[in-house]
Amino acid sequence: MSVLDRLGRPLGSLRLSVTDRCNMRCRYCMPEDDYVWLPRASLLTFEEMARLTGGFTGLGVRKVRLTGGEPLLRHDLPTLVELLRRDRRIEDLAITTNGLLLARQAAELRAAGLDRVTVSLDTLRAERALEFARTARHGDILAGIETARDAGLPVKLNTVVIRGFNDDELVPLLEHARAVGAELRYIEYMDVGGATRWSMEDVVPQREILERLAARFGPIEPVFEPESRAPAERFRLSDGTTFGVIASTTRPFCRDCDRSRLTADGTWYLCLYAEAGVDLRAPLRAGADDAALAELVRATWSERADRGAEQRAAAPERGVLHQIGALRADPRREMHTRGG
Ligand code: GTP
Ligand code: 5AD
Ligand code: SF4
Repeated sequence: MSVLDRLGRPLGSLRLSVTDRCNMRCRYCMPEDDYVWLPRASLLTFEEMARLTGGFTGLGVRKVRLTGGEPLLRHDLPTLVELLRRDRRIEDLAITTNGLLLARQAAELRAAGLDRVTVSLDTLRAERALEFARTARHGDILAGIETARDAGLPVKLNTVVIRGFNDDELVPLLEHARAVGAELRYIEYMDVGGATRWSMEDVVPQREILERLAARFGPIEPVFEPESRAPAERFRLSDGTTFGVIASTTRPFCRDCDRSRLTADGTWYLCLYAEAGVDLRAPLRAGADDAALAELVRATWSERADRGAEQRAAAPERGVLHQIGALRADPRREMHTRGG
């Protein structure tokens, strides 16, 4: 059974946040000194996650992505991968990680059935990682990328581009990705919850990213992918190297958005920018059966009309989405809780 929302979009991809904790503090995501965390007792067990996921795949979801916070902080993650892998409807099971713990876990995740990994890599310079993401272990991220590749996991790299921070590394980052056999995606800095230092002036738009790359690499061709619902538009250099740009700040892709996200405490969000989510944990723990849970998801999705990024782009004066008080009042407004 499948279901369309009010704008005709199917339920195709689920982002499953397994923890709201993170061992980095990227300035575009977690710039503050302290955070309000989800209460421990509210965190879903792996069995609960697998059960809810089964409800989604029964309604058409084929892509599942594990996110955080930092998903590799969740104890024993390969067990969840193994559990999810039993659901034959999942065609693509991936993870988005900051890479710090990846070298240690890549082989086990691969063996458990993970299909691929996306690693955030915003700089090649250790001192910048320290300043910008408060991690002194930049080398572990680079090692994690190579270990994952060597374990047979296809790797994508995510680079959030911020003017005056890392926009002088566009070329070296792409060269690094090419050298390690990963596909790089440049991401426009987004005004999501948690990005309390966001300003339009710090956004480097897709157009400018492409111009700067063309100045170094020569002509860039778009890769034609009419069926794609992925947020990245892909491009090719004349030597065949491909890369992506996720332009959700200046060219939102809401009309194709088939994704939703489940926080680690079982709150389901239909949009990255949605003000509120639907509590799936309460009915699950109250004993609802699979049919009742699936019906709740189906009915909710069929009413969905969210197009948060497009609405943000149309706002006359675009500034920070949530002030710190609003984030503390409901930590689920944070990108790191909503699963990046
Ligand atoms: P692929 O299947 O590999 O293309 O995964 P992905 O690009 O969907 O996943 P990833 O976790 O790498 O997300 C990359 C970036 O896309 C995020 O960091 C966000 O900037 C952006 N993004 C992810 N989900 C959404 C969403 O629901 N809405 C918008 N506007 N942007 C999103
Ligand atoms: N703008 C763009 N991307 C962001 N991410 C987190 N915060 C932001 C933001 N403000 C991305 C990270 C990571 C993914 C999980 O979310 O780069 O790749
Ligand atoms: Fe950085 Fe991801 Fe952690 Fe956010 S959740 S601080 S983007 S590593």
